[in-house]
Amino acid sequence: MSQLSILPVRLAEREYDIGIGDHLLTNGVAVEHLLSLRQSEPIVFVTHPALLLRYVTPLVTSLEKEGVRCHTLVYPPGEHRKTLAGMMKIYSGFAQAGVDRKGLVVVVGGGVLGDMVGFAAATFMRGVRFVQIPTTLLAQVDASVGGKTAVDLPEGKNLVGAFYQPSAVLIDPQTLNSLPLRELRSGLAEVIKYGIIWDKSFFERLRFLRKSLLSRDTEALGEIIRVCCEIKAEVVKQDETEQNVRAILNFGHTVGHAIEAATHYKVYKHGEAIAIGMVSEALIGEKLGITPMTVTAEIEAALSEFGLPTRFPKSLPQTEFFDAMMQDKKTVFGEFKFVLAEEVGRVLYGQTVSREVIERSLFD
Ligand code: GLY
Repeated sequence: MSQLSILPVRLAEREYDIGIGDHLLTNGVAVEHLLSLRQSEPIVFVTHPALLLRYVTPLVTSLEKEGVRCHTLVYPPGEHRKTLAGMMKIYSGFAQAGVDRKGLVVVVGGGVLGDMVGFAAATFMRGVRFVQIPTTLLAQVDASVGGKTAVDLPEGKNLVGAFYQPSAVLIDPQTLNSLPLRELRSGLAEVIKYGIIWDKSFFERLRFLRKSLLSRDTEALGEIIRVCCEIKAEVVKQDETEQNVRAILNFGHTVGHAIEAATHYKVYKHGEAIAIGMVSEALIGEKLGITPMTVTAEIEAALSEFGLPTRFPKSLPQTEFFDAMMQDKKTVFGEFKFVLAEEVGRVLYGQTVSREVIERSLFD
């Protein structure tokens, strides 16, 4: 069983801990942490119906034994519910529960719920503290760390939101035991991304650990979650609000988000679209003489080994694809911005690429 790791995230104006440990949701560590953050009552939990009994009820029972009043809000899952209408339900839930300015909100779930509740916490009474307890790999290595919170608009994903850091992130790799395999693989796409943008030895380590990771060895999962959180914390420390280097976290996402949007979020999991996006963006980098063919091949091989898709769906209607790119937050002054790989472990951000190069790389 892996030990508890505490990773401090030190930003210019605030600081918080990411705690990563097997069984931390059930062995008292999470309860201790929540008790140390409580300044008012009730502590309000927000979760999905399927996670309530498994994770939230035991936490609430333990906190109530300590004499702490808790309140639970249940919100159904799904990207299509990450809306302003959904936010109203969460705000009303906070108000009815009596959350005050010293209140503490705890979100237990995946990235969609974490983004929404984070944005609700950022804006309710102009900001109440919140704790992320992510239960999917994707949320553990990306969405819960770094303070991006948002909801979608019909016009595009994450268009309304705020940078708002949590007071703590608590990660228990045991939650991954019940995650569907497709979701696990999808999270592994973001994990592989960290190797490509930052650390070649981590990329190689992932390939070495493949069998353990896919069979949910929680020791191996704990190790890779820790490395991803360390990388993300370092990037966010350097550039909290994505003025420059934080953009490297978007590798694969310019194409990936457009694929998701053009297929109406119905065909691909986020990580699957990002896997295709990473290979697509390597092909674009090749066309521009930035990415060597051997690097594209390495990226593609690693993703395929983990059972992730890598081929761009050429049948995608071009107009819808480019419309989706145009709506994306990464598009500035109508210019498509890319992160391109020079090698595994080193990327360039803020690269402008013309529509013609994208067309030739992906649709020819
Ligand atoms: N998911 C990319 C970022 O947090 O910047």
